[in-house]
Amino acid sequence: MRDTKYMAIPPGAIIPGSLPKFKIYVLSRDGRYILWARDGNEVKKEQLNTLAESGPQEVFIDLEEEIRYEEYLETHLGNILDSQGMPDDQKADVFSRVSTNVVKDSFETSLGLGRMHDDAVRRTQALVSHSLIFIAESNSLKPLAKMIGHDYKTYEHATKVLWFTVAFLRCNPDILEEIDPGFPTFDEARKKEILKQCGVSAILHDIGKVFVSQDILNKDGPLDALEWEIIKRHPLSGFAMLVDSETPDFVRKAILQHHEDFHGGGYPMSAKGESITILARVLRIVDVFDAMTSRRPYKEALPAAKAAQIMVGTPSNGNEPEKDPKEDPRDRGMKQCFDERLLRKFIVFLGKVSSQM
Ligand SMILES: [Fe+2]
Repeated sequence: MRDTKYMAIPPGAIIPGSLPKFKIYVLSRDGRYILWARDGNEVKKEQLNTLAESGPQEVFIDLEEEIRYEEYLETHLGNILDSQGMPDDQKADVFSRVSTNVVKDSFETSLGLGRMHDDAVRRTQALVSHSLIFIAESNSLKPLAKMIGHDYKTYEHATKVLWFTVAFLRCNPDILEEIDPGFPTFDEARKKEILKQCGVSAILHDIGKVFVSQDILNKDGPLDALEWEIIKRHPLSGFAMLVDSETPDFVRKAILQHHEDFHGGGYPMSAKGESITILARVLRIVDVFDAMTSRRPYKEALPAAKAAQIMVGTPSNGNEPEKDPKEDPRDRGMKQCFDERLLRKFIVFLGKVSSQM
């Protein structure tokens, strides 16, 4: 039986030439954990090759050193996601783990400050930058498809919104070009920079929720009027938290407007149509899609096709969406929320994701 003192990690996460600050173990045939690499020692390529030849699929770390392992993953994320030998689903796990930690730390460090800490902004930028190629490549759609139906947790939701947003925009460069139209050139370097900043906006879209109590965020049942008023402040709080940060204007505006409805009636300003920035319109779609297809304490996850049907507002009977008594009222009648042109493109994109399921 495996010892609960140790945690399995994928050997592909260990980058040759790196200096992990944690001990690495292998499991012998007779079930003993044998020290394979000391903390602080360089892991050589030959060592890793020998390990691969000997056949074990996993290596182990002491659970007490988990924080050091997580710091290591964040530092080496770019190399890990770039490595040839590691399967995509393992890369996706590493990406989700690092991303969840970065978002969680961003929320926690910002709470006392009232704004986003400069270090948290830098870590978020680095995270998106290091994961951009992996996310944007079409072979990351398969692990992305597996994320549909997971639990809705604030930090994981942020990671999924980042992933969906970047993958969607990568498939639709015409939208990407509209995001920052004031810039004179749109070459590959510019495209990459905008994509990165869109990812930053996506991962931080709910950062203003640091000011909303957990009791309200996790309430199992309908919110009362006051609770709704508190929830509705989070886009403005998020915008305010980033005002003095080194983020482009379109990143902050998208955070401010991610609950505005294309046909009016959203919050905080009840803005309409193209006065809502295009990135905010994209985030509105991705945010709702992920919320509907995630499992909540009070409702089951909807399948992707059903969520898309509600978002489009054209159920199979051709009339209003069916009134399922168990359905969250916030999931009904959503047609007025979205820019139809973008929603159509998103549904085409979902078709590509679903084909990987
Ligand atoms: Fe939000």
